[in-house]
Amino acid sequence: MMKCRKCNQKAVINMRHHKLSLCKSHFLEWVGDQTERNIRKYKMFTRNDRILVAVSGGKDSLALWDVLNKLSYKTAGLYIHLGIPGEDHYSTKSQILTEKFASENQLLLHTVNAKQEFGKTIPEFSESNKRAKSKPCSVCGLVKRHTMNEIATKYGYDVLVTGHNLDDEVSVLFNNVLAWQVDFLRRQTPFIPAKVGLTPKAKPFCRFYERETAAYAFLSNIEYITDECPFSEGSTTLQNKELLNQLEHKRAGTKLAFYLKFLNAKKELFPEHEIDHFSDELFPCAVCGQPTTAPGKCTFCRMVIRDQELT
Ligand code: AMP
Ligand code: FES
Ligand code: ZN
Ligand code: ZN
Repeated sequence: MMKCRKCNQKAVINMRHHKLSLCKSHFLEWVGDQTERNIRKYKMFTRNDRILVAVSGGKDSLALWDVLNKLSYKTAGLYIHLGIPGEDHYSTKSQILTEKFASENQLLLHTVNAKQEFGKTIPEFSESNKRAKSKPCSVCGLVKRHTMNEIATKYGYDVLVTGHNLDDEVSVLFNNVLAWQVDFLRRQTPFIPAKVGLTPKAKPFCRFYERETAAYAFLSNIEYITDECPFSEGSTTLQNKELLNQLEHKRAGTKLAFYLKFLNAKKELFPEHEIDHFSDELFPCAVCGQPTTAPGKCTFCRMVIRDQELT
């Protein structure tokens, strides 16, 4: 029987990469401690800050909201209904689970419905943008980024946090290395500080394996959506995750080392930009006012306006 390193009781999880087995209560405590450590290490936020947690209804973001709440941070949630269908009405089901979590924990939840707010669901945007070769996932990313920053700015939150875990980060890193996307590599960081019109962004779970956030959510009795987004099937992200899992299986700790060594190497790779700075000049979008890399309309407004003109 696997035993907890701290109390010798029966362990519920063995983390080979940390050579650490823990029982339920010590594991839940460990997740809280590690999250706190990460928040401090990357100077993400303090207990004075108002934090907006982007919650998808999945295990990572709900677990993150739960941990931050238990650590006594000041949080509110944001759920974006993207109008994604699927057998079980993916978006609606995840909204119900997010609302349930918020009400059970008496937490404020902002909700934005893409169809009501911008006139179309993600599949509809993607369909009408087919000529521009917009896949649902890229349109979806655009809508999410725009909405998160809009709500964070509108309500004056100090920081926006997302539930990205180590597997997410490593998959993106792997992709960017394969294509030597230097600019994307430069920007990949656990914390992006404020810029004019942009709320700081933090990923407090970036050092947790997906398996750990799932275990946390399960052991904390959090009800979350287990289905994957129907559009993610066959995606590069999922393929990368599968490959990286094979490597991890052969050598425990591969993913964590790949990510942490990258963050260290960044200091040498990009000496002129400290880890969290990037110097692109930004301009306010002529329509929504959010910062964009070229004068005129931002990509989001170009898409929404083009769409309105087409219909
Ligand atoms: P994904 O891009 O789906 O891998 O999700 C990464 C993170 O973005 C999640 O952990 C959430 O913090 C956030 N997120 C994803 N989907 C939504 C959504 N529909 N509403 C609010 N936040 C979301
Ligand atoms: Fe956005 Fe799947 S969650 S396309
Ligand atoms: Zn124990
Ligand atoms: Zn705009």
